[in-house]
Amino acid sequence: MRNDIKEILFTTEQIEDKAAQLAKQLEVDYQDKKPILLGLLKGSIPFIGDLMKHMNIPIQIEFMDVSSYHGGTTSSGQVKILKDLDISVENRHIIIVEDIVDTGFTLTKVIALLKHRGAASVEVVTMLDKPEGRIVEMEPKYIGFTIPKAFVVGYGLDYDEYYRNLPYVGILKEEVYMK
Ligand code: PRP
Repeated sequence: MRNDIKEILFTTEQIEDKAAQLAKQLEVDYQDKKPILLGLLKGSIPFIGDLMKHMNIPIQIEFMDVSSYHGGTTSSGQVKILKDLDISVENRHIIIVEDIVDTGFTLTKVIALLKHRGAASVEVVTMLDKPEGRIVEMEPKYIGFTIPKAFVVGYGLDYDEYYRNLPYVGILKEEVYMK
């Protein structure tokens, strides 16, 4: 897999340090709020794992599967809920956990849905933010790293469902997805 990576943007150590820092910040901000960490499958899996082990306050973990990419490298703008929550979010504080925010379509849809269902608050923690990709306005409150407009994989992020298990974040060589 390493041969398919043009450049490593963030090493495992940098990512793990950042996840621990963000977790400590969330710990302070959500001290008495018993928040729900809501991971959006599948990209958020490594990040939610790293976050939760550094948050020493009562939290619950839930998942939704929301799809926007459909296997390519660009967003279609169509956001589909593939797996919904099976618990109520009414009066609950929700922290949505994302691997990356790109166009903003996914979060716009999920945040609106959670608010409509009566969540007390909804914030976003994302490991990566790609502001140049934004099509709809969306500012995550907690951001690990801001990245340029390149196609990145690893730490949960895929190309055609592969590379999610890379323990670092890297830019995929163009020839891999131009094939
Ligand atoms: C990716 C990523 C975010 C979303 C960001 O998910 O995990 O959820 O796209 O893109 P946006 O800001 O342009 O909406 P994807 O739908 O590819 O599913 P995955 O997590 O299973 O890879």
